[in-house]
Amino acid sequence: MKKIVTLNVNGLDYETALEPRRTLAEALRYDLGLTGTKIGCKIGDCGACTVLIDGVPSSSCLVLAIEAEGHEIMTIEGVADGNKLHPLQEAFVEVGAIQCGFCTPGMVLTALALLKDNSDPTDAQIRRALSGNLCRCTGYQKIVEAVREAAKRMLRTC
Ligand code: FES
Repeated sequence: MKKIVTLNVNGLDYETALEPRRTLAEALRYDLGLTGTKIGCKIGDCGACTVLIDGVPSSSCLVLAIEAEGHEIMTIEGVADGNKLHPLQEAFVEVGAIQCGFCTPGMVLTALALLKDNSDPTDAQIRRALSGNLCRCTGYQKIVEAVREAAKRMLRTC
C-alpha cells in the first residue's frame, strides 16, 4: 500500500505517494523525475546514486524514500545556481574529468561535501573522499585535478 511522503529536495518540498519499499534513488528518478541521480550497483558499492542528505554524501540506493522524509536532500540538479554552473561542475568540464558521465553526479556531490569541510584538500584527501565513487572511464586523475582546480577557484572567490 502506498504512503504519502514529502521529500525536501534541493530546497523544494515534493509530496508523492510511494510504496514503502521504494528507495530514495528510485523515488528521485521515477517519481520526481530527477534523473541526474544514477542507479548503478544497487548495493552501495559504486557511488553513482550519491546524493547529500543533510549535507552528508549518501548512497540513495540504500535509503528508503520514507526514511528520507524530514531531511534535506541535495541532488545534482540542485548544485548549479540557475544557469550558472558550480565551480566544481565548470572544473569537471574544463579539465576533462567526464567521459560517459555516469559517475559524475555522484562525484560532484561527494566533492562538494569534501570542499565544504576542507576548502584546500590535498590530492590524497581528495582520493580518500572519492574512494566510494567508482569511475569506469577516466582513471581518476582528471577527476582529482578537477576537484583541486575547483577548490582553487572557490578559495579565490571567498
Ligand atoms: Fe564514465 Fe566515470 S566518466 S564512469
